Amino acid sequence: MSTRGTQRSAGPSYQSVIAADLTPPPVSLRVEQFDWPGDTRVDPQRYTSREFAALEATHLWPKVWQMACRLEQIPEVGSFITYEVADVGLIVVRTAADTIKAFHNSCLHRGTTLAEGEGRVGQFRCPFHAWTWNLDGTFRMMAAEWDFGHVDVATMALPEAAVAQWGGFVFVNPDPQAEPFEQYSAPLGEHFVDHPLDDRYLFAHAGRIIEANWKATLEAFLETYHVAATHPHTVRFANDTESQTDTLGPNLTRMLEATGVPIGSLIGKISEREIAEKAQRVLPREFRRAVPENVQARHFLADRLRDGLGSMWGVDLSALSEAELLDTDQYHLFPNFFPWLGVYLPIAYRFRPWGEDPHRSLMEIMVLHPKPTDGRPYETAAFQLLQADQSWCQARGLEQLGMVFDQDTDNLVRVQRGLRFGRQSEVTLGDYLEIRIRHYHRRLDQQLGLH
Ligand code: FES
Ligand SMILES: [Fe+2]
Repeated sequence: MSTRGTQRSAGPSYQSVIAADLTPPPVSLRVEQFDWPGDTRVDPQRYTSREFAALEATHLWPKVWQMACRLEQIPEVGSFITYEVADVGLIVVRTAADTIKAFHNSCLHRGTTLAEGEGRVGQFRCPFHAWTWNLDGTFRMMAAEWDFGHVDVATMALPEAAVAQWGGFVFVNPDPQAEPFEQYSAPLGEHFVDHPLDDRYLFAHAGRIIEANWKATLEAFLETYHVAATHPHTVRFANDTESQTDTLGPNLTRMLEATGVPIGSLIGKISEREIAEKAQRVLPREFRRAVPENVQARHFLADRLRDGLGSMWGVDLSALSEAELLDTDQYHLFPNFFPWLGVYLPIAYRFRPWGEDPHRSLMEIMVLHPKPTDGRPYETAAFQLLQADQSWCQARGLEQLGMVFDQDTDNLVRVQRGLRFGRQSEVTLGDYLEIRIRHYHRRLDQQLGLH
């Protein structure tokens, strides 16, 4: 039996940190599950070659479950949004109060797209020759019907993709034979049962074109190993090398990183008071308080967030544990969706190739605030697209987080350039801290029929 991946950093484990918290963490955060996936070989050409992107266009995107939108982005009957990746293009539409469908966005006459962007319609009418479909995808009418006697309109319903809903998100799978989403995503539902993302709304939604392959971009968010080098301002209050990484299912991994604990090399060398003071600096000014002498950093910081975020959002956070309030507890659902479980960083990411260029991708960040329970109004954010040379700080609603995301994505231009320039036959991955990248490429191999 392989012992690969069984080594751990010398510092306190994530489990030992949360075991010392005042409020017990939820069961899902107390689980530890690690399976060595085998010695994955990741050829740099996976990130740079058009042939590999073409393999993904054929075997990946048409066959896996993908997050298409939030339910609140298509609120009314007739509201639609288009979802595109590689050669997949879908219209995701609310066809009845509680029914969402996804149609392939292609006119059955000569192929014109039936919808662009997002909006609200009563039917889908092709702009070219006006063939028209009902909202539910059944065929309504064509001009000059006398010339199409060979067409059986009963068979002219728009082809559909599979649709599922989870946590207020709509998921699509273009493959009509797709396994059910619950099975594909397991144990995602179990882990979020006490943290329903249905209770959130889209407070901010930004995307940025990144000059790197979609996998290289996504992988920057699959590990905490980069935190000390890339986000050096966090080393006194974020514990990266002791973070926990879990392989939970064929399509699901996660990582848990403690906040209010310094990086391993500083543990025992700085006081709890200093940790609390440094961590407070990244909180909104109105959340901050004088740090008492004999403070326990995690307890102090959790109290600041309970009060600060609770009143900012109009929700009661008093029952939440330190772990739920403070920590990075980020999940990855294969291939490209990342929901976060906690409330301090209430975010979700999605990554896609940008067109057919293997050197460009679209990274999106959704900020999902809890719906206020005190009756105050709230609105669904519009999508804002940033170009490659813009900063995440320019995105509405991301301001405070923007600098950290810029640090993450600024590396990626260099990652992509270096992947092109290198002559190494594979990238080198850690056995534990980068286990999620290994797991993910194994799953990708299987999807592409490479193993
Ligand atoms: S292409 Fe759509 S009606 Fe002709
Ligand atoms: Fe980062």
